[in-house]
Amino acid sequence: MIVRDAADADLAGILEIYNDVIRTSTAVYAVEPVSIDERRAWLLARRERGFPVLVACDASQVLGFASFGDWRGTWNGYRYTVEHTVHVRADVRRRGVGRELVEALIPRARELGKHVMIGGVDATNLDSILFHKRLGFERVAHFREVGRKFGRWLDLVFMQRWLDAPGAQRPD
Ligand SMILES: CC(C)(COP(=O)(O)OP(=O)(O)OC[C@H]1O[C@@H](n2cnc3c(N)ncnc32)[C@H](O)[C@@H]1OP(=O)(O)O)[C@@H](O)C(=O)NCCC(=O)NCCS
Repeated sequence: MIVRDAADADLAGILEIYNDVIRTSTAVYAVEPVSIDERRAWLLARRERGFPVLVACDASQVLGFASFGDWRGTWNGYRYTVEHTVHVRADVRRRGVGRELVEALIPRARELGKHVMIGGVDATNLDSILFHKRLGFERVAHFREVGRKFGRWLDLVFMQRWLDAPGAQRPD
């Protein structure tokens, strides 16, 4: 398995994983499947902002993908914080793919001078909560009933990881 920057040719694999997560879980609060054009626009937007989109691949297919973007829009005061996403194909979970992806994202965020990385995790998504804890993320916030899918309210947990040290200095 290798982890590398996503190419346009990876979009079909990314789409398949993403739509499977949308269809089968509350890991993403989207209800409808997305199109290849939506994923292409997303990839382009990330590239234009200078943010990475990484894929983990074996010889023939995309096993997972990860990225980060602005947290809470582009308000300037949040410029040292990013929000990441990571999804692994259902049949290859618990084999280290997610870990490799997030561990590859972290130096990319540091290179951009970022200070904090945040993941928004559905409160019932124990796999992801345990995964993020294992990777050094701390549970810092719990929002009640902010989402809705599959006929029920969803609580959202924020998990955060320092990319350097608490209190590290940055230009204002
Ligand atoms: C969450 C997710 C990305 C984790 O990826 P993964 O490739 O399965 O995780 P890894 O194999 O790299 O796990 C790394 C470590 O995290 C922990 N971990 C991961 N999944 C876990 C689980 N289901 N239960 C307990 N611990 C878990 C383990 O400590 C694991 O190390 P180990 O296998 O050596 O014990 C994956 O399950 C996934 O894509 N889920 C569906 C979509 C999703 O929830 N995305 C995240 C949205 S916030």
